[in-house]
Amino acid sequence: MLDKTKYHIPEHVGIIMDGNGRWAKKRALPRSIGHKFGAQNFRKITRYISKTGVKVLTLYAFSTENWKRPADEVSALMVLFKQYLIDSLTDFREDDIKVVFIGDRSAFDPKLIELINESEEVAKDRKGMLLNIAMNYGSRDEILRAVKELCTEASEGKLDPQNITEKDISDRLYTGGLPDPDLIIRTGGEFRLSNFLLYQSAYSEFYSTETLWPDFNEEAFDKAIIEFNKRNRRFGGV
Ligand code: IPE
Ligand code: IPE
Ligand code: MG
Repeated sequence: MLDKTKYHIPEHVGIIMDGNGRWAKKRALPRSIGHKFGAQNFRKITRYISKTGVKVLTLYAFSTENWKRPADEVSALMVLFKQYLIDSLTDFREDDIKVVFIGDRSAFDPKLIELINESEEVAKDRKGMLLNIAMNYGSRDEILRAVKELCTEASEGKLDPQNITEKDISDRLYTGGLPDPDLIIRTGGEFRLSNFLLYQSAYSEFYSTETLWPDFNEEAFDKAIIEFNKRNRRFGGV
């Protein structure tokens, strides 16, 4: 476990959990097996991170663009989401993790929506780490929703368009009221956000690792924190 007295622990960490398919391909296994190992890792690493002192963890599990994948892969993912949600309910209780889902849940099947609602409901009073699971999440969609809300409020005379602030926008995002992510980790080696937290990540530190998601373990997370501690965050100042 990382020595908290030696390292500054970021308050909010986002993770783009990428590379399940390549992990399976390397082993000549179907992509769905990569997702299964990825889901197991999600359970394990979330528990670990909740003990490091991170206050908010946002995990990107399924993007608004991931529906483009072959139908059999999408349905394998939906089966895994259900299974792992049920399994992790116990873990999250033991670790006092508060779970919230961000994204448009209405697109999922009723059983999954029920599980999502239930997971949030049982966890709502917990005081430990906040875990945001981004499912059917897309940042452009999130911003579009915020814009529509603002337009509606303006048309109803509840706010003056000339006085809209940056905070008015961020308050209407799924992450409204939370601190912006300090660190965004992407596994699988790509250097892109793929529609994750675009508005919130204006000043996030970006860390990309070649490690594929099912292999991203405690040590790999610690490495990201050590690298984060070397960054000089200026926020536009000197
Ligand atoms: C990330 O792994 C999981 C999801 C997007 C659901 P990928 O499935 O994108 O894995 P690669 O990038 O093809 O290796
Ligand atoms: C980003 O990974 C989405 C998630 C990890 C859920 P993708 O594999 O979908 O991203 P691209 O297609 O490489 O940009
Ligand atoms: Mg990918």
